[in-house]
Amino acid sequence: MDCLQIVGGKRLRGSVQINGAKNAALPIMAAAILCEGEVVLHNVPDLTDVRTMEHLLNQLGVSTSREGPHTLRLKVVDEMNCHADYELVRRMRASICTMGPLLAKRHEARISLPGGCAIGDRPINLHMAGLIALGADSELTNGDVMLKAKRLMGNELFLGGAFGSTVTGTANILMAATLAEGTTVIESAACEPEVTDLANFLNACGARIAGQGSPRIVVEGVKQLTGCEYTIIPDRIEAGTFIIAGAITNGDIRLRNCRLEHLLAFVDRLRAVGVNIERDGDEVLVSSARRLEPTTITSQPYPGFPTDLQAQMMALLCLADGNSIITEKIYPDRFMHVAEMSRLGAKLRKEGPTVMVEGVKRLVGAPVMASDLRASAALVLAGLVAKGRTTVNRVYHIDRGYERIEQRLQALGADIERSTRAEEI
Ligand code: EPZ
Repeated sequence: MDCLQIVGGKRLRGSVQINGAKNAALPIMAAAILCEGEVVLHNVPDLTDVRTMEHLLNQLGVSTSREGPHTLRLKVVDEMNCHADYELVRRMRASICTMGPLLAKRHEARISLPGGCAIGDRPINLHMAGLIALGADSELTNGDVMLKAKRLMGNELFLGGAFGSTVTGTANILMAATLAEGTTVIESAACEPEVTDLANFLNACGARIAGQGSPRIVVEGVKQLTGCEYTIIPDRIEAGTFIIAGAITNGDIRLRNCRLEHLLAFVDRLRAVGVNIERDGDEVLVSSARRLEPTTITSQPYPGFPTDLQAQMMALLCLADGNSIITEKIYPDRFMHVAEMSRLGAKLRKEGPTVMVEGVKRLVGAPVMASDLRASAALVLAGLVAKGRTTVNRVYHIDRGYERIEQRLQALGADIERSTRAEEI
């Protein structure tokens, strides 16, 4: 099993290209199920999650082919299969994004219920309630959700839950509503840029969606969707991770293809910590003072501070000059990285959904274990600055969301290598 070996202490310098957004690409790929013509997607990141979605779509009768690393062609060639089976859904929860399109286009969807997850309970009750409100019948058989509807009918529905809006839930309802009869109003819709990107893609295929990016989305159903050529937005979470890589190493880096307007809550907190972030056309410059101020972070739905950058921010705050407080409001148990960071000398105390971070002068390298995608990214960031060698094991997690991470960090001057020999832990 691959691991990453990092020798900390190098200041990062240079420029890095930010890839397309994984969490926009996955639902947009699933939306190809809805389309009559060919879909050509540019800026698709080359990640294991994207390959898994390709694999699933192939099983569902969608042909896929690549042109270069970041352009993907998709076309429905067979509409017989409506079953996303456990083998793929358990590997990637975003497989659930095929549910809305299958139901709307093929009138039937059978999706294995995703099980537990390292970042906490992740129910799909809101997805189900939304699709049922559009007229689907549902039943649970052998761990699979079966949905059927001869014709979906537009409706007014509220998609909020105890932890706010749902990103992939909004995506599912949005996709299903494009082909429903009449008007659908989604209240408490997720406002994340990835949902807006999906709506913009669907509109480019002939859908009639308004209000994307706000909590109230209105969809006028249409008879059919065509294909289109579309460019996925840059990945704000990848950009945020590289910004912290620059900041934590006291470096000086430039991000290309970065939409800072998607990261305002994050940028606000980083500036509070003392990191310089400047826009230069469509590039972003990052540098940081040697001394980092402590701060308070609360993850929230967009436009709040993203949960997908909480772990990486914790790595940075471990080195601040004072005590910080991090509260997780989306996934209260998303703290698997706390114990691993403590192995590097971080001083962390978890109480419920909150972690008290006591800044330390330095972190010290050690073997650590990645538990999920963003936790692995946080451990790599900590390794970049920890004294001595850090080995991040189970690095397949990071390959789900960051393309060739070690090569891109090497190009910025980091001492990081992938190796197949994991250290004892
Ligand atoms: C998306 O997951 C992202 N995944 C996650 O990114 C991200 O952490 C999350 O949104 C929050 O921003 C993709 O886009 C593929 P939610 P999603 O439904 O849609 C609760 C990463 O690292 N909820 O918005 O599954 C849920 O438990 C990943 O790239 C219900 O209660 O998240 C959570 O507390 C990990 N019922 C909150 O809502 C439901 O039916 C938000 O979850 C659905 C969700």
